[in-house]
Amino acid sequence: MSNDSASFAPRPTAPDLAALLGPSKLPRVGTTIFTVMSALAAKHGAVNLGQGFPDFDCDPKLQRYFAEAIAAGHNQYAPMAGVPALRQAIAAKIARLYGRAYDAETEITITAGATQALMTAVLALARPGDEVIVLEPVYDSYVPSIELAGARPVFVPLDAARGYAPDWDRVRGAITPRTRALMINFPHNPTGRILREEDLRALEAIVESTGLFVISDEVYEHIVFDGQPHRSVATSPLLAERSVVISSFGKTFHTTGWKIGYACAPRALSAELRKVHQFMVFAVNTPGQHAVARYLEDAAPYQTLAAFYQAKRDLFVAGLARTRFRLLPCEGTYFVLADYSALSDLPEAEFAQKMIVDYGVAVIPVSVFYERPFEGRVVRFCFAKKDETLRAALDRLQAA
Ligand SMILES: Cc1ncc(COP(=O)(O)O)c(C=O)c1O
Repeated sequence: MSNDSASFAPRPTAPDLAALLGPSKLPRVGTTIFTVMSALAAKHGAVNLGQGFPDFDCDPKLQRYFAEAIAAGHNQYAPMAGVPALRQAIAAKIARLYGRAYDAETEITITAGATQALMTAVLALARPGDEVIVLEPVYDSYVPSIELAGARPVFVPLDAARGYAPDWDRVRGAITPRTRALMINFPHNPTGRILREEDLRALEAIVESTGLFVISDEVYEHIVFDGQPHRSVATSPLLAERSVVISSFGKTFHTTGWKIGYACAPRALSAELRKVHQFMVFAVNTPGQHAVARYLEDAAPYQTLAAFYQAKRDLFVAGLARTRFRLLPCEGTYFVLADYSALSDLPEAEFAQKMIVDYGVAVIPVSVFYERPFEGRVVRFCFAKKDETLRAALDRLQAA
């Protein structure tokens, strides 16, 4: 055997390969703004409040559970739908919090984070030529998922003048005979908006009269502030019958790198979802699932999460009040939006770059969550950071 590379056919040059590849399946997808901003932040030594994940570690007990699951030999494929103990723990949590009894055996599927659950749900539901409604600003994975399914995204804006409230009349007005599903995300990234009781009622009326499916991304379900409840679509029997409800332990247990999430849906819908899941990942990492199942049995640790993040929100909001940023309301999630029109009239992307270079703080321009050209003057701060990180950012912003 020779390792002589000269015996292989010459490698095609880059243009040849591009020609062979032909049109991209996702022509508008490039490097995400999150990566671009983080690289720029690192270059300029900026405090990074852009990327949406904690800069602190998860509970050492949870880490120990993961290590012990490995030592106990949980190292082969998990069952396709997920480790039974984890599915049962999720079923118990949802029954307790939202009053919906999902069958752990047939209605709950463990996924590689919410991202996979979202893609799986869209691929299972949307057929070529279907339309799927999304609410703008929209989380960045929704539209590529819809496009890969051969379906068409239809954009309905949240009402920025009413605190980014969903405008259900506009949603209704966007529905056509081709509309298959509506994707929602509350608590909402990036606006921090939560659902009201009247939102659920309006959504029920739409679903009842149109037969639409709902894909409800509830990854921030445990991060709702000021004593408000999280109003899951699972609390509504009518909606739960037509919905895929998605969440993620990455947000809840500060373990975004573990990529463990789940999708709950009525049996017939879950069966379709699992057909896609089976050939997308087959199963999710086994020891992580055992660790999370054991942790969930402890003392419902998610119950303290809202207070934990509310303290961070309050620290950050109090500090930012001493700047010329104008904060917008933040009812949930670990993001807060701020209007900077008193500081600059630069467009958002340029202002976000200026913030890194001149102020030493990285943020995300809200325009990246819009499909259409967007004329706002609003940036997103992530406060899932150590208090010392938040204080360092505030010192810089107050000096700006
Ligand atoms: C609204 C929303 N949905 C889904 C995700 C992805 O979750 P996961 O990391 O579990 O895939 C995120 C992560 O930032 C998010 O903000």
